[in-house]
Amino acid sequence: MSNNVDEMTERMLDDAGIGPGMRVLDIGCGPGAVSLMLSPRVGNQGHVFAVDRSPEMLELAREKVHETSVSNITFIEGEFDVTFPEHGTLDAAVGRRVLMYQSDATRAVTQLTRAIRSGGVIAFHEHDMIVIKDNRTSLPLHDQVRSWLREMLRCEGANLHMGFELHAALSAAGLAVERVRAEANVLTPTADYPVAAIIRSVLPRLLQHGIATEAEIGVETLDNRLASERREMAATYLWEMVFCGWARKH
Ligand SMILES: C[S@@+](CC[C@H](N)C(=O)[O-])C[C@H]1O[C@@H](n2cnc3c(N)ncnc32)[C@H](O)[C@@H]1O
Repeated sequence: MSNNVDEMTERMLDDAGIGPGMRVLDIGCGPGAVSLMLSPRVGNQGHVFAVDRSPEMLELAREKVHETSVSNITFIEGEFDVTFPEHGTLDAAVGRRVLMYQSDATRAVTQLTRAIRSGGVIAFHEHDMIVIKDNRTSLPLHDQVRSWLREMLRCEGANLHMGFELHAALSAAGLAVERVRAEANVLTPTADYPVAAIIRSVLPRLLQHGIATEAEIGVETLDNRLASERREMAATYLWEMVFCGWARKH
């Protein structure tokens, strides 16, 4: 199911010029959502190299792809410095929510740049957990859930403000930045952004860091409670900022 954040990724891929016939690396592919967007985009003449350091994530992605008729994705266990036979000749490399986990984003981008040809493009979609103080309506449950996620990322040493640092990281890696832009992911009373599914997927991490108990989270009823809070206040809630940036290799 597509949501407003997936639409932002698609727009970034459009604007970065990723299209038919291209060979593209998806770094930090996780369960494969971006790889599955890239697959029809590059078509049968193109190819997707989906890279992740986590064998468990790659297995999830493989299972997802297995349920489809997709045949143009190759999964590779590796990091930003991954190499494989097509390394150095790819047309593009993309990543979503992955630079924020790198202790040195410039180094990571520099390593990734070696995988693509001269003139190729690198594009990242990163979320920024900026504290938004100006929401027009106070929604306590929304504030609470956001603070759990923020605290989890902080405990894990993630860069909560990667979005603001995207331009600097791409430039310092020697790339010619074409654009960095930010869009807000807003939750309207009728939005279907899957907050509870996100919380469910990170539940073990929230529990492990002692951020909240299962009872406090109440994941089974979370989406309903969030939606009622927005409906009762007829509120549009600014959930997060999404930064997308793309750059070209000289
Ligand atoms: C938040 S998930 C995002 C998954 C996917 N890109 C998406 O947007 O649906 C981050 C993923 O990046 C992977 N990752 C983090 N650091 C990495 C690295 N240095 N090399 C390869 N993968 C990495 C993690 O294993 C995880 O699967």
